[in-house]
Amino acid sequence: MPRKSDTPTTPSDQASPNSLDRRSLVKAGAGLALGSAFTSMATSEKAQAQTQAKGPVIRGDEHTLILASHPYPERSVVNKALWEVAEQAEGSIFKNLESIHGDDMWGFDRAAERKLYQQVDRIVMMFPIHWFNLTPMLKAYMNEIWWIGAPSELRGVELLVVTTTAGGPDAYQPDGRLGFTIEQVLTPLQASARYTGMTFSEPLAFLGAAGAGPDELTRYQGMLADRLSEPPRSA
Ligand SMILES: Cc1cc2nc3c(=O)[nH]c(=O)nc-3n(C[C@H](O)[C@H](O)[C@H](O)COP(=O)(O)O)c2cc1C
Repeated sequence: MPRKSDTPTTPSDQASPNSLDRRSLVKAGAGLALGSAFTSMATSEKAQAQTQAKGPVIRGDEHTLILASHPYPERSVVNKALWEVAEQAEGSIFKNLESIHGDDMWGFDRAAERKLYQQVDRIVMMFPIHWFNLTPMLKAYMNEIWWIGAPSELRGVELLVVTTTAGGPDAYQPDGRLGFTIEQVLTPLQASARYTGMTFSEPLAFLGAAGAGPDELTRYQGMLADRLSEPPRSA
C-alpha cells in the first residue's frame, strides 16, 4: 500500500494550531479520470449492492478516505445516489459508517484509523445537514478517533465536505430565510480542520436537494465524480 512520503512522525496527539507543519506534496498521478463513465456505473446493480457494504470498499491506489454517514439510510434518496459514485471513485477507500457500525457509536478502532490516515491525502465527509449540523455518527467518529487532541497524521490532509440540504440557495444567505450561508453552518468542521492542521477545501454542497428527481440526481453524481477525480488539495 502506498504511504505518505512526508507523514509527520511525532507521536504527539496534541496538535498545536499555531505550529502546524503542512505538506506540500500531493501524490503524483492522483487525479484519475472518472468523467463520463460515472453515469452507467452509478446506476448499476453492483453499485447499489455496495452501498450496503459492511466494511470499507477499496478502489485501487488509494489516496482518499470517504466517510459517509446518514442516520436514516433507508429513507435517503440523495446521499444514497452520491454513495454510488463515491464507492466507485478510483483511489478511494469508502466507508459507510452506519453500514459498518450500525448504531454503535463507540466501536471505532482509533489505532487502525490512524494507520489508515498515513496513506491518504484527502478525507471526504459526506452527510445530510440535520438541524444545521453533521450527523451523530460522524460526530462520534470525530470524538472517538480525533479525541481531544488530534491525530498528527491529519496534518496537511485535505478535508472535503460533501453535504445535502432541503433549504435552497436563496435560504442559505445572510439575508435569506435561514440567515446563514452553508459555509457558516459548516464553521465547526472548518475550525476542526484548522485545529488539526488539515486543509479545508470548498465544500460541495447540494442545496435544496431534498426531493431531487432522477435528472437532478444524475447531475449531482456527475459533480461529485468530477470533484473526486481531482487530485487531493494540500496547503
Ligand atoms: C431530522 C432532520 C433535520 C433536518 N434539518 C435540516 C436543516 O437543518 N437544514 C436543511 O436545509 N435541511 C434539513 N433537513 C433536510 C435534509 O437535509 C434533506 O432531507 C437531506 O439532505 C436530503 O438527503 P437524503 O435524501 O440523503 O436524506 C433535515 C431533515 C431531517 C430528517
